[in-house]
Amino acid sequence: MSTDTTSAIGPVEGGPRYDVDNPAPYIEAPRKRTGRTPRATRGNFEMAAWLFMRLSGVVLVVLVLGHLLIQLFLDGGVSKVGFAFVAGRWASPFWQVWDLLMLWLAMLHGANGLRTVINDYAERANTRLWLKGLLYTATVFTILLGTLVIFTFDPNIR
Ligand code: HEM
Repeated sequence: MSTDTTSAIGPVEGGPRYDVDNPAPYIEAPRKRTGRTPRATRGNFEMAAWLFMRLSGVVLVVLVLGHLLIQLFLDGGVSKVGFAFVAGRWASPFWQVWDLLMLWLAMLHGANGLRTVINDYAERANTRLWLKGLLYTATVFTILLGTLVIFTFDPNIR
């Protein structure tokens, strides 16, 4: 049992004992923001990206598992997948939107994940610049091309 009464949380080993005669040093309060305080120069991009990875991940579980179930297991498995099968599904706006959402979310999720990997592992600023340039170019190209295909797909092509 401690007999020390100077601290509510008990004695601090070796530390200073503060009391009325020996007050703790005064720590200045943080400055308050005023109208003249400059605006923060950093935005919330990384927080939004962190949240996006979680939210898109949850949606992707449904989209990707549903996609795999239909393509690989139902109605005779993968052997049914061909031009006619794709044409049949893309005749419906429901599956067009499904595939469009899957394309956009998987590409943005994957690209943002790789952005994190590049930031973590590429040590030289120049290497990061080139790898991310390549990543963003490939991402934009794939998203645009995929979107174009979903909306301009012609089942009667010869
Ligand atoms: C199927 C459902 C999916 C779920 C639930 C999911 C979930 C997640 C989560 C929560 C993270 C963040 C991890 C962290 O910050 O430490 C992550 C990272 C990542 N995801 Fe996904 N994801 C899914 C699908 C995908 C797909 C389809 C791709 C590729 C197109 C992908 C590629 C990546 C990459 C490259 C990372 C970064 C890995 C890292 O930081 O080490 N994910 N995923």
